[in-house]
Amino acid sequence: MVSAARAHPNIALVKYWGKADDELIIPVAGSMSMTLDKFATTTQVELTTDADRFELNGTVADAKATGRTTAFLDLVRNLAAEAGLDTANAKANVISVNEGPTAAGMASSASGFAALATAAADAYGLKLSPKDLSRLARRGSGSASRSIIDRFAIWHAGTSDATSYAEAIDAPEMAMVSVTVNAAAKKVSSRDGMVATRQTSPYYQAWIDVTKTTLDEMVLACAAKDFTRVGEITETHAHRMHAVINATHPPIRYLAPVSWQVFDEVAAMREDGIEAYATADAGPNVVIICRPVDTDAVAARVAEYGQINTFAPGPGAHLVDTA
Ligand code: PMV
Repeated sequence: MVSAARAHPNIALVKYWGKADDELIIPVAGSMSMTLDKFATTTQVELTTDADRFELNGTVADAKATGRTTAFLDLVRNLAAEAGLDTANAKANVISVNEGPTAAGMASSASGFAALATAAADAYGLKLSPKDLSRLARRGSGSASRSIIDRFAIWHAGTSDATSYAEAIDAPEMAMVSVTVNAAAKKVSSRDGMVATRQTSPYYQAWIDVTKTTLDEMVLACAAKDFTRVGEITETHAHRMHAVINATHPPIRYLAPVSWQVFDEVAAMREDGIEAYATADAGPNVVIICRPVDTDAVAARVAEYGQINTFAPGPGAHLVDTA
């Protein structure tokens, strides 16, 4: 069997930072995101009798990436065994292509594992609901659970493998403008950064508590289609995530001086009447949310700080023809 799937990265408005269960990737709090309409990952999975093989952007992947892919395929094989399928022992040849510019910091692990989950489930003959695909993708990378979903997703933290998954949520119309800054910040993976935060940041419990109430507020703001409120919640929450991370020992600092300049520019835009709000993940790049009509004006205001890309809400992970 050969199957192929396509998935896009997502950017969280309410962030996921911290696991209650490291192995099952159950988060300490829920989160909410927009799936992007660019920078897709397309992944093809072909069952074989040889060993698992993983090719990324035309090159055979290194041992670490191959190991992570094999561990993920083992989860799919376990599901196939539970379903009594004769594919359960098959190995897989995985060929993956990222359309995003390398090192743009646009969450390629989220699109990668969402595409892999969707293609591998199909190749092994599993019939999974979107909820079960989201649970499966979560095991590869937490944020991948959200890239299964069209447009806007809420990831319910849950308390177990069965109850931790993402589903669609309505949100006000918005666009995103990403600023890939030219900063050589030292990178700590989100996986390692989350553990360090839990172990050494004195503000960790406060962060968990506030993320839960923030998600409740975000759900209300989305239901009211209140773009202003969604934006305010998003920006404040991003600062809180970086604050709890900055308080680790030894300190982890993802934002660079130029990232702060972009946050300042976004505040200046608001004073000038352009409604824009900023957020940033585990790196120095900044993503701005705005009303769709303001996208070009926002992009022009921040062009001097880095490479600019603009996004609309995009599709969730889906199968594509292999021909
Ligand atoms: O899914 P991971 O392990 O790549 O973690 C994602 C962490 C953030 O991007 C910083 C926040 C989020 O919710 O996407």
